[in-house]
Amino acid sequence: MNVAQIFENNQKWVEQKLDLDSQYFERLSKGQNPEVLYIGCSDSRVTAEDMMGAQPGEIFVHRNIANMIINTDLSSMSVVNYAVNHLKVNHVVVCGHYFCGGVKAAMGSAGLGILNPWLREIRDVYRLHKAELDSITDEDARYNKLIELNVQEQCTNLIKNEDVHTAFEERGLQVHGWVFDIASGKLIDLKIDIEAIANQYLNIYKLS
Ligand code: CO
Repeated sequence: MNVAQIFENNQKWVEQKLDLDSQYFERLSKGQNPEVLYIGCSDSRVTAEDMMGAQPGEIFVHRNIANMIINTDLSSMSVVNYAVNHLKVNHVVVCGHYFCGGVKAAMGSAGLGILNPWLREIRDVYRLHKAELDSITDEDARYNKLIELNVQEQCTNLIKNEDVHTAFEERGLQVHGWVFDIASGKLIDLKIDIEAIANQYLNIYKLS
Protein backbone atom coordinates (compact mmCIF):
# COMPACT_ATOMS: atom_id res chain seq x y z
CA MET A 1 0.00 0.00 0.00
CA ASN A 2 1.47 3.34 -0.98
CA VAL A 3 0.95 6.52 1.01
CA ALA A 4 -1.02 8.32 -1.71
CA GLN A 5 -3.47 5.42 -1.69
CA ILE A 6 -3.97 5.87 2.06
CA PHE A 7 -5.12 9.47 1.57
CA GLU A 8 -7.46 8.44 -1.24
CA ASN A 9 -8.91 5.73 1.00
CA ASN A 10 -9.36 8.26 3.79
CA GLN A 11 -11.30 10.59 1.51
CA LYS A 12 -13.62 7.74 0.49
CA TRP A 13 -14.08 6.71 4.12
CA VAL A 14 -15.03 10.27 5.12
CA GLU A 15 -17.58 10.43 2.29
CA GLN A 16 -19.09 7.05 3.22
CA LYS A 17 -19.48 8.08 6.86
CA LEU A 18 -21.03 11.43 5.93
CA ASP A 19 -23.42 9.78 3.46
CA LEU A 20 -24.86 7.74 6.31
CA ASP A 21 -24.74 10.49 8.92
CA SER A 22 -23.88 14.09 8.06
CA GLN A 23 -23.16 14.86 11.74
CA TYR A 24 -20.88 11.85 12.25
CA PHE A 25 -17.53 13.61 12.71
CA GLU A 26 -19.06 16.60 14.47
CA ARG A 27 -20.50 14.24 17.05
CA LEU A 28 -17.21 12.30 17.37
CA SER A 29 -15.35 15.53 18.03
CA LYS A 30 -17.44 16.21 21.14
CA GLY A 31 -15.66 13.53 23.20
CA GLN A 32 -15.30 9.86 23.94
CA ASN A 33 -16.96 7.52 26.40
CA PRO A 34 -15.47 4.06 25.70
CA GLU A 35 -16.61 1.06 27.75
CA VAL A 36 -13.52 -1.01 27.04
CA LEU A 37 -9.75 -0.63 27.31
CA TYR A 38 -8.17 -3.04 24.83
CA ILE A 39 -4.50 -3.95 25.19
CA GLY A 40 -3.27 -5.93 22.21
CA CYS A 41 -0.24 -6.70 20.07
CA SER A 42 1.08 -4.26 17.45
CA ASP A 43 0.95 -7.06 14.85
CA SER A 44 -0.54 -5.66 11.61
CA ARG A 45 -2.85 -8.68 11.27
CA VAL A 46 -4.59 -8.07 14.59
CA THR A 47 -6.86 -5.10 14.05
CA ALA A 48 -8.59 -4.29 17.30
CA GLU A 49 -11.75 -2.53 16.14
CA ASP A 50 -12.28 -4.60 12.97
CA MET A 51 -12.31 -7.97 14.68
CA MET A 52 -14.61 -6.72 17.43
CA GLY A 53 -16.98 -4.95 15.07
CA ALA A 54 -16.40 -1.80 17.09
CA GLN A 55 -16.93 1.77 15.95
CA PRO A 56 -14.78 4.86 16.66
CA GLY A 57 -15.39 6.02 20.23
CA GLU A 58 -16.16 2.55 21.61
CA ILE A 59 -12.73 1.10 22.43
CA PHE A 60 -9.70 2.76 24.07
CA VAL A 61 -6.70 1.01 22.54
CA HIS A 62 -3.12 0.35 23.56
CA ARG A 63 -0.88 -1.85 21.45
CA ASN A 64 2.71 -2.94 21.88
CA ILE A 65 4.84 -5.95 20.97
CA ALA A 66 3.19 -9.05 22.49
CA ASN A 67 0.52 -7.12 24.48
CA MET A 68 2.67 -6.56 27.55
CA ILE A 69 1.79 -4.76 30.78
CA ILE A 70 5.10 -3.83 32.36
CA ASN A 71 4.93 -1.76 35.52
CA THR A 72 7.93 0.41 34.62
CA ASP A 73 6.58 1.16 31.13
CA LEU A 74 5.31 4.72 31.36
CA SER A 75 3.34 4.40 28.12
CA SER A 76 1.12 1.45 29.06
CA MET A 77 0.85 2.61 32.68
CA SER A 78 -0.39 6.03 31.53
CA VAL A 79 -2.96 4.43 29.22
CA VAL A 80 -4.25 2.21 32.04
CA ASN A 81 -4.40 5.13 34.47
CA TYR A 82 -6.27 7.37 32.04
CA ALA A 83 -8.71 4.68 30.90
CA VAL A 84 -9.52 3.40 34.39
CA ASN A 85 -9.46 6.57 36.47
CA HIS A 86 -10.62 9.21 34.00
CA LEU A 87 -12.59 7.46 31.24
CA LYS A 88 -13.90 4.98 33.83
CA VAL A 89 -13.99 2.02 31.45
CA ASN A 90 -15.85 -1.02 32.79
CA HIS A 91 -13.71 -3.64 31.05
CA VAL A 92 -9.98 -4.05 30.51
CA VAL A 93 -8.99 -6.66 27.94
CA VAL A 94 -5.58 -8.18 27.32
CA CYS A 95 -5.74 -9.78 23.89
CA GLY A 96 -2.88 -11.98 22.72
CA HIS A 97 -2.82 -13.75 19.39
CA TYR A 98 -1.58 -17.04 17.98
CA PHE A 99 1.39 -16.69 15.59
CA CYS A 100 2.75 -13.81 17.72
CA GLY A 101 6.25 -12.97 16.49
CA GLY A 102 7.17 -11.33 19.80
CA VAL A 103 6.41 -14.50 21.74
CA LYS A 104 8.21 -16.59 19.10
CA ALA A 105 11.31 -14.41 19.43
CA ALA A 106 11.17 -14.77 23.22
CA MET A 107 11.18 -18.56 22.87
CA GLY A 108 14.51 -18.32 21.07
CA SER A 109 17.84 -17.21 22.48
CA ALA A 110 18.98 -14.79 19.76
CA GLY A 111 20.13 -11.36 20.93
CA LEU A 112 17.91 -8.65 19.42
CA GLY A 113 19.39 -5.45 20.80
CA ILE A 114 16.89 -3.02 22.31
CA LEU A 115 14.21 -5.72 22.05
CA ASN A 116 16.03 -7.88 24.61
CA PRO A 117 14.74 -6.17 27.79
CA TRP A 118 11.21 -6.22 26.34
CA LEU A 119 11.41 -9.89 25.36
CA ARG A 120 12.91 -10.75 28.74
CA GLU A 121 9.50 -10.07 30.27
CA ILE A 122 8.08 -12.85 28.07
CA ARG A 123 11.09 -15.07 28.81
CA ASP A 124 10.21 -14.59 32.49
CA VAL A 125 6.69 -15.86 31.73
CA TYR A 126 8.34 -18.97 30.27
CA ARG A 127 10.50 -19.34 33.38
CA LEU A 128 7.47 -19.03 35.67
CA HIS A 129 5.69 -21.82 33.77
CA LYS A 130 8.75 -23.80 32.68
CA ALA A 131 7.63 -27.19 33.99
CA GLU A 132 4.26 -27.00 32.25
CA LEU A 133 5.70 -25.64 29.00
CA ASP A 134 8.64 -28.04 28.82
CA SER A 135 6.24 -30.97 29.26
CA ILE A 136 4.57 -30.07 25.92
CA THR A 137 6.58 -31.90 23.26
CA ASP A 138 4.84 -30.45 20.20
CA GLU A 139 6.54 -27.14 19.46
CA ASP A 140 3.44 -25.43 18.00
CA ALA A 141 1.34 -26.47 21.00
CA ARG A 142 4.04 -25.15 23.35
CA TYR A 143 4.15 -21.88 21.41
CA ASN A 144 0.34 -21.51 21.66
CA LYS A 145 0.43 -22.32 25.37
CA LEU A 146 3.06 -19.64 26.02
CA ILE A 147 0.89 -17.13 24.15
CA GLU A 148 -2.05 -18.02 26.43
CA LEU A 149 0.07 -18.00 29.60
CA ASN A 150 1.51 -14.64 28.59
CA VAL A 151 -2.04 -13.23 28.43
CA GLN A 152 -2.71 -14.67 31.88
CA GLU A 153 0.47 -13.12 33.29
CA GLN A 154 -0.34 -9.73 31.75
CA CYS A 155 -3.80 -9.92 33.35
CA THR A 156 -1.99 -10.63 36.62
CA ASN A 157 0.23 -7.60 36.08
CA LEU A 158 -2.91 -5.55 35.45
CA ILE A 159 -4.70 -6.62 38.61
CA LYS A 160 -1.55 -5.81 40.61
CA ASN A 161 -1.73 -2.25 39.26
CA GLU A 162 -3.16 0.02 41.95
CA ASP A 163 -5.64 1.83 39.68
CA VAL A 164 -6.99 -1.44 38.29
CA HIS A 165 -7.13 -3.17 41.64
CA THR A 166 -8.95 -0.27 43.30
CA ALA A 167 -11.53 -0.06 40.47
CA PHE A 168 -11.92 -3.87 40.57
CA GLU A 169 -12.74 -3.76 44.27
CA GLU A 170 -14.72 -0.54 44.39
CA ARG A 171 -16.77 -0.50 41.19
CA GLY A 172 -16.52 -3.99 39.71
CA LEU A 173 -14.10 -3.24 36.87
CA GLN A 174 -13.69 -6.47 34.90
CA VAL A 175 -10.41 -7.77 33.51
CA HIS A 176 -10.49 -10.24 30.59
CA GLY A 177 -7.86 -12.38 28.89
CA TRP A 178 -8.50 -13.20 25.24
CA VAL A 179 -6.61 -14.69 22.31
CA PHE A 180 -7.20 -13.86 18.66
CA ASP A 181 -6.62 -16.78 16.28
CA ILE A 182 -5.31 -15.28 13.05
CA ALA A 183 -5.82 -18.59 11.20
CA SER A 184 -9.58 -18.64 11.82
CA GLY A 185 -10.37 -14.99 12.66
CA LYS A 186 -11.92 -16.12 15.93
CA LEU A 187 -11.65 -14.35 19.26
CA ILE A 188 -11.26 -16.79 22.17
CA ASP A 189 -12.07 -15.96 25.79
CA LEU A 190 -9.47 -17.69 27.99
CA LYS A 191 -11.91 -17.33 30.93
CA ILE A 192 -9.15 -16.36 33.32
CA ASP A 193 -10.28 -16.36 36.96
CA ILE A 194 -9.34 -12.77 37.75
CA GLU A 195 -10.93 -12.91 41.20
CA ALA A 196 -8.64 -15.79 42.21
CA ILE A 197 -5.60 -13.90 40.89
CA ALA A 198 -6.72 -10.73 42.69
CA ASN A 199 -7.13 -12.62 45.98
CA GLN A 200 -3.69 -14.14 45.55
CA TYR A 201 -2.09 -10.72 45.21
CA LEU A 202 -4.22 -8.75 47.64
CA ASN A 203 -1.67 -8.87 50.46
CA ILE A 204 1.26 -8.07 48.19
CA TYR A 205 -0.68 -5.11 46.81
CA LYS A 206 -1.51 -3.76 50.26
CA LEU A 207 2.13 -3.98 51.34
CA SER A 208 3.44 -2.19 48.27
CO1 CO B 1 2.13 -10.35 18.37
